[in-house]
Amino acid sequence: MDLKTKLGNIELQNPLIAASGTFGYGFEIKDIINIEELGAVTTKTITLHPRLGNPLPRILETPAGLLNSIGLQNPGLKAFKKNIILPWEKIKNVKMFVSVGGNDISEYIQVIAELDQYSRIDAFELNISCPNVKKGCLAIGSNPILIEQLITQAKSQTKKPIIVKISPNFSNIIETAKITETAGADILSMVNTFLGTKIDIKTKDFYFKNKVAGLSGPAIKPLALKLLVDVAEQVKLPIIGMGGISNTEDVLEFLIAGASAVSIGTMNFRNPKILLALANEMKKQDINVNEIIGSLFNRKKNKTLIL
Ligand SMILES: Cc1cc2nc3c(=O)[nH]c(=O)nc-3n(C[C@H](O)[C@H](O)[C@H](O)COP(=O)(O)O)c2cc1C
Repeated sequence: MDLKTKLGNIELQNPLIAASGTFGYGFEIKDIINIEELGAVTTKTITLHPRLGNPLPRILETPAGLLNSIGLQNPGLKAFKKNIILPWEKIKNVKMFVSVGGNDISEYIQVIAELDQYSRIDAFELNISCPNVKKGCLAIGSNPILIEQLITQAKSQTKKPIIVKISPNFSNIIETAKITETAGADILSMVNTFLGTKIDIKTKDFYFKNKVAGLSGPAIKPLALKLLVDVAEQVKLPIIGMGGISNTEDVLEFLIAGASAVSIGTMNFRNPKILLALANEMKKQDINVNEIIGSLFNRKKNKTLIL
């Protein structure tokens, strides 16, 4: 039995990661679960300046998932340095990935430059895929030139690994993944939420002020898994897979399809203990993670898998 996995040079004690935006900054949940038993926690995306997020309503449950229009609400870099790094210094074993966003490339770079000094931070995740803000993020993630510039500049500010979180909302996710690889990213994280919407039949208007929102949860699992298969076949970077994972079978599917670790988001809201429960279940089932990662492609007959 060995749940250990590697994302480039980062070794995780197990492949289970809390997805950004669904687990606070991690330590808030420590009375409910021992986060030191997880593989990693990705913090809520942090930006240079505090953000209030989008107007209400910002969240809606759908038959098998969640629509959110949070809009990157966060306390900003200064408060992050003051209130979030310190409690993390006492947390051992679990890796800390800091998700970074911004209105433009220079804002991402300032955040990384100022946080680089903290040894507790194991990697930065560039959020270039949030569908709920007007500037930055998706505007960068949809432009190959800006993706390349952001990654190059981020790499020049830090020796910590750079994770790039990409969007499922463009027709050619393989191309985006390849650009991140060529630009020098260390790890790929996929996927952020799928664009969706909701109409209020009483007002005959959009339910969300922003008109669109991001869909997550079990509804997107087959879609996210298909995109993972496509990308894993074409790109050598280690991949953090996510999108609707809700049980051990889902975790195994993502690992078999080529993810070296998986993130869980929406299901934390239903069961805050799910990450730990999955780790324990995988231990019980005697799963050797490294034997199964990418096994879909290791079998010869599947080498030319076309979906
Ligand atoms: C309420 C909510 C807030 C989120 N906030 C962020 C965020 O700040 N940064 C980010 O990269 N992703 C954010 N996400 C996306 C998740 O990290 C994840 O990519 C997505 O929800 C798919 O995984 P899931 O189906 O397991 O939730 C958010 C998702 C939800 C539901």
